[in-house]
Amino acid sequence: CGIIGVTGNGPVVPRLIDSLKRLEYRGYDSAGIAVQDETGIRRRRAKGKIRNLEAVLLEDPIKGHVGIGHTRWATHGAPTQANAHPHKAGRVCLVHNGIIENFAELKAELEAEGRVFESQTDTEVVAHLLDHNLSEGMAPLDAFKATLDRLTGAYALAVLIEGEHELILGARRGSPLVVGWGEGEMYLGSDALAVGPFTQHISYLEEGDYVAMTRTDARIFNAKGEPADRAVVKVAASSALVEKGEYRHFMEKEIHEQPDSVQHTLSEYLDLVTAKAKPAVVDFAAIERIQIIACGTAFYAGQIGKYAFEKYAGLPCDVEIASEFRYRDPALSQGTLAVAVSQSGETADTLAGLSWCKAQGLKTAAVVNVHTSSMAREAEILWPTHAGPEIGVASTKAFTAQVAALLSLAIAAGVARGKIDEAREAELVKALFEAPRLISEALRMDAPIRNLVQDLAKARDVLFLGRGPMYPLAMEGALKLKEISYIHAEGYAAGELKHGPIALIDEYTPTIALAPMDDLFEKTSSNLQEVAARGGPVIMIAPESAPDPHGAGIRRVHAPDAHPIAAPLVYAVPMQLVSYYTAVQKGTDVDQPRNLAKSVTVE
Ligand code: G6P
Repeated sequence: CGIIGVTGNGPVVPRLIDSLKRLEYRGYDSAGIAVQDETGIRRRRAKGKIRNLEAVLLEDPIKGHVGIGHTRWATHGAPTQANAHPHKAGRVCLVHNGIIENFAELKAELEAEGRVFESQTDTEVVAHLLDHNLSEGMAPLDAFKATLDRLTGAYALAVLIEGEHELILGARRGSPLVVGWGEGEMYLGSDALAVGPFTQHISYLEEGDYVAMTRTDARIFNAKGEPADRAVVKVAASSALVEKGEYRHFMEKEIHEQPDSVQHTLSEYLDLVTAKAKPAVVDFAAIERIQIIACGTAFYAGQIGKYAFEKYAGLPCDVEIASEFRYRDPALSQGTLAVAVSQSGETADTLAGLSWCKAQGLKTAAVVNVHTSSMAREAEILWPTHAGPEIGVASTKAFTAQVAALLSLAIAAGVARGKIDEAREAELVKALFEAPRLISEALRMDAPIRNLVQDLAKARDVLFLGRGPMYPLAMEGALKLKEISYIHAEGYAAGELKHGPIALIDEYTPTIALAPMDDLFEKTSSNLQEVAARGGPVIMIAPESAPDPHGAGIRRVHAPDAHPIAAPLVYAVPMQLVSYYTAVQKGTDVDQPRNLAKSVTVE
């Protein structure tokens, strides 16, 4: 979860520990370091807090001037010492954030070669693969590049190689990584905060970059292997938690944090290594119905959850806005599980709805991002999201984390209710774990989207359309645009268009359609032709492989191809970017839009 690397000119262990302590805020359940000196690489790891690692080091010290460290937040494999990073194979020792999606295939290949694995992590295959390449006689940097080329997923890496005394290798794809520049020392960190104790001069690696660092230099390469120049910027000492780092707004930063926040949330509920849903604390087979209660963005996440609970688990699910629910005396049967969905866990109406259900004797759960919040305490079951602190008032990463949690729970429910067999479970779990990579791909849609917003920023009204789970996402897209750009927008079910909203269509009213390649694509596509035929400008967000709708005036923006279960997570990104860049274009106060509050504790 947190990464630090130091290639320095003094004892490195206390500094690695200092840095890891600064990364504690990210949450973790084990920690470890490895250092290299003339005699080789040594590592120490411990389950639990960093003070446990310190105790291990006191008992069994290691020394050196070059080292890497990691705090691990268990994703695949239990939070044991054996699963803690760094992982070692032959000459290679490394730490990793993220997901190696194709680890099973690589592991089988390496095992066939006689390699023996000692952990249940996806990370260990990277160490073995790199060691394999080195043992074939490749030079470290070539071996590293060849390794990276074989990996699928979203990740950040920091690597030591035995015998390469000063060298630290790093790579970024999907998970952030920064290079810190010191005086005769160089650093690598998962964020500016990690290298904060040592330097304020950092370079942010870009997607696909990798780096070879020695004490005095860092050579950065892009994904194609060409030398890349990345600006050195000065950051304030505190940084990361409360600072925007390389981003202009917290919202932009939070949009870019989604590969990580989605991964962490998925890992709470699903296990990539076994391709299974983790056992749920609630017996979904014994539940008759789910009632989701939420406000704002969380309400739309709840609606995506509804589609999933009904589709994958055959579990009836209703979703209602909390301010309505709490005052209308809803009729709920005793077999209902009430689920509050909330970033803050403090929203007054949602909390009141939850308490009301509890008072009726219903089973209650809360999907919340603040795990110590009122709702977390009030509900019988806490279903955490792991988005981390969200500063931007308009919710982004908290939303996708809610969606990730609900989709995962829907799989668990489907398994418990016998709606999903083992093969389908594996397919769905793997498909969701592809979301972090696909989200980082979707983040690259920023260039085409920036082009579009020139026109959007001039519009008075904008329509968002979608079918299936893209319908709630369309409403969330409209909410986002209203919130931060003050442009009036509505989200509609694409099929409902002809029943009224189509009257709004004219050349000044753009329509944005979310159209992933699924069994509803053709239907959405015909709805867009209806809009285009009436002179309305249409922007279709769809994969490149999707056929062109007939009819002029439809602009396309290419989104990654995603399995239908992962599509809401992936398509959330272009819709967030549309709002963000439109607001930037208009010059509004993106992080603190007028009249809005992050947490609404009044009814
Ligand atoms: C406020 C925020 C929204 C949020 C809603 C629900 O209106 O501005 O972004 O979606 O509250 O907040 P919650 O913390 O319950 O998710």
